Amino acid sequence: MKILVFGANGQLGSELVREGSARGLTREDVDVRDLKAVKKAIEQYHPDVVFNATAYNAVDKAESDKDEALLVNGIVPGKMAAICAAKNIPFVHYSTDYVFGDSHAKPISELETPDPLSVYGRSKLFGENAVLRAHPGALVIRTTGIYSPGGQNFVNTMQRLGKERGSLRVVSDQFVAPTSASTLAKISLRLAELGEDGIFHVVSQSGTSWYEFAQAIFELSELDVELQPVKATEWGAPARRPRYSVLDTARLRLLGLDESIGSWRAELERFFVESGE
Ligand SMILES: NC(=O)c1ccc[n+]([C@@H]2O[C@H](COP(=O)([O-])OP(=O)(O)OC[C@H]3O[C@@H](n4cnc5c(N)ncnc54)[C@H](OP(=O)(O)O)[C@@H]3O)[C@@H](O)[C@H]2O)c1
Repeated sequence: MKILVFGANGQLGSELVREGSARGLTREDVDVRDLKAVKKAIEQYHPDVVFNATAYNAVDKAESDKDEALLVNGIVPGKMAAICAAKNIPFVHYSTDYVFGDSHAKPISELETPDPLSVYGRSKLFGENAVLRAHPGALVIRTTGIYSPGGQNFVNTMQRLGKERGSLRVVSDQFVAPTSASTLAKISLRLAELGEDGIFHVVSQSGTSWYEFAQAIFELSELDVELQPVKATEWGAPARRPRYSVLDTARLRLLGLDESIGSWRAELERFFVESGE
């Protein structure tokens, strides 16, 4: 399968390139806001499938940078999907658990209706809808709290701050299912190979709080850090996040693929072994 990945420098993009022996394009190669350049790249490579791993991921900054978040997460993915649809090329795009709001207390399946709380969440939801409207065969994968060895993510941030400070406050009343970029890439490639379409949830098979996740990171890194739980309202981030956004991977289960991703703890342990942390 000839695979073309936009956003090849990102956490997920670089894993897709590695796992799928794909052609990867970075922002320097093609800025996806330049749709002529996107189209030209697709015409030059003739891929069997296109993955869009680009995103405006600064959740808090998006609150004051709405236009750019909407452009990169919402409008551009729809146009990329339309370019692929016109050429009959499958298109894979990514979204987030933050399309859901505060009305959940158990794992959220693909059937539930999004109700985002933030600009970021709304821009990603706009992107989901735009992609699926433009390309009825597109695959949209929602995921959560991605981590990879070199990326900007919670695992690396905790390790850096833990070494610098020795004492940290971490939010304990928001529950998520953090997900390894490498496992996400492997499952994405399998879903594309199977020709799946529509929305899929791909996250670790259980949820945790950011506080408990930080505890595990310090334990596995053998860092002695004093952790204090803090409520999200005390933390006061500019963007509102859901209290509980653990996704249910119902569609993966139906395909028998849910066993290719472990619990958040098992996935984190594997990440530490594989990345030699
Ligand atoms: N990270 C998470 O925790 C998380 C959670 C839920 C969902 N997701 C979704 O999962 C997907 C992958 O996330 P990720 O963590 O791999 O993201 P990431 O590491 O932030 O990578 C995003 C990539 O997009 C590139 N990019 C941004 N704007 C671009 C543009 N205009 N033209 C070309 N490239 C552009 C960035 O390039 P530069 O490096 O040059 O900026 C970066 O390489 C995204 O759709 C994201 O919304 C992520």
